[in-house]
Amino acid sequence: MAEKLIIFDTTLRDGEQSPGASMTKDEKLRIARQLERLKVDVIEAGFPASSNGDFECVKAIAHAIKESTICALARANDRDISRAAEALQGGKATRIHLFLATSALHMEKKLRMSPDQVFEQAKLSTRFARNLTGDVEFSPEDGYRSDPDFLCRVLEAVINEGATTINVPDTVGYAIPELYGNFLLDLRQRIPNSDKAVWSVHCHNDLGLAVANSLAGVMIGGARQVECTINGLGERAGNCSLEEVVMAIRTRRDYFGLDIGIDATQIVPASRLVSQTTGFVVQPNKAVVGANAFAHASGIHQDGVLKARDTYEIMRAEDVGWSANKIVLGKLSGRNAFKLRLRELGIELESEAEINAAFAKFKELADRKSDIFDEDILALVMDESVTSEHEHYRLLSLSQHSEMGERPHASVAFSAGDVEHHAESDGNGPVDASLKAIESKLATGAEMLLYSVNAITSGSTESQGEVTVRLQNGGRVVNGVGADPDIVVASAKAYLSALNKLHSKIERVAAQG
Ligand code: KIV
Ligand code: ZN
Repeated sequence: MAEKLIIFDTTLRDGEQSPGASMTKDEKLRIARQLERLKVDVIEAGFPASSNGDFECVKAIAHAIKESTICALARANDRDISRAAEALQGGKATRIHLFLATSALHMEKKLRMSPDQVFEQAKLSTRFARNLTGDVEFSPEDGYRSDPDFLCRVLEAVINEGATTINVPDTVGYAIPELYGNFLLDLRQRIPNSDKAVWSVHCHNDLGLAVANSLAGVMIGGARQVECTINGLGERAGNCSLEEVVMAIRTRRDYFGLDIGIDATQIVPASRLVSQTTGFVVQPNKAVVGANAFAHASGIHQDGVLKARDTYEIMRAEDVGWSANKIVLGKLSGRNAFKLRLRELGIELESEAEINAAFAKFKELADRKSDIFDEDILALVMDESVTSEHEHYRLLSLSQHSEMGERPHASVAFSAGDVEHHAESDGNGPVDASLKAIESKLATGAEMLLYSVNAITSGSTESQGEVTVRLQNGGRVVNGVGADPDIVVASAKAYLSALNKLHSKIERVAAQG
């Protein structure tokens, strides 16, 4: 039997550290459920000691998810570890992930600790964590830039204290595949008790090498766990992307000879969900999940694929969850057909009230748009008026006038709690006028960091527009998403959705101290 490669997803922790990618509890839960459907082995759900909000997210995910191990990050100190254990309490399978920097640079400049102090703290904190749970991962932060002799000393000690997984982060994305693979191999060969732990890779993508480095860590270094994120989400240039690493191992099983438990047909739905939730758009030519990943434009390629698929295709689009813009429902579809399609798409709405709200939205959309695609349904259930997200601001109506050569004008009605507002404004364009009208009443002073529009289904102007707005206010960055066949309405919805998040004051602090 082939050995298994453990897939550890950190979209909800390291991915979320990306500025602008922070998520609400409901959003994190929705993504955790999708990761469970994807059958990832370990979900790193957050960093409980970083904020009360993150603590609550980890707690909710640990209660909801049964098929994947739920992991919580902690700095190597008793308070963080206790907080992580508390958040994970009651979960079916749980892990505490400790990290402590070991590179000379980080120890001296960031931690202001001597190597001996770091060694002692690594040992004592692992012992403390092992007394709380049987599954403990230890990460020497900036491990790849650490002195190998010191790293051997620390890692041998934490394995002796009971660490069950040793993760070697390339925190700043500095590694080169062959060098990283050999670095890991060297550690495993020199540490006498290395066979008592599973070895793991955690690579950042600053040089665009995160996937290559992770694969080298597996093949050369003997790692049996890969840490990764959906769409490669993460700080700076991101993390190792789950879809790429998984499909490389699966497509080239002849070379890697490893088994993975992932249900690849859930990859594209997971990619869409993460992109819609965070507002981080997937580039069209991104491997596996990009809109063009399976599109053959050249005549020679098209001809070849029609004659024999494998002339130019090494994977099948449907195997990773592409459903080719299927028309699934229309104006006459009933509640049962709608409910069934939700189930087939793996969407679990919490209550009958949510299903009713989603169905009402669906009917409204079907009156305006003849064909409803899976993508439309996914966008519809992201709407805060469908899910149980807190919705303080709500769009009631919008009209705008624009004419070539004239300055556009918009009138917007929206509610803020129980109060109804009517606002008007001019603007450079109809979107600008609509958002200025809202701002003229609320005067939030929020700064817009991003505005983007995408067609939900490609290839037609009949598609709904999906707008993402990223706002910053009082040190917080949030994303709002809105969808509608009218992009001006979608923009107003996205703007109000972002304001709802700012209004809900979800607490977050920087993840790494
Ligand atoms: O990149 C890193 O070093 C990390 C650790 C916390 C594992 O994310
Ligand atoms: Zn990281």
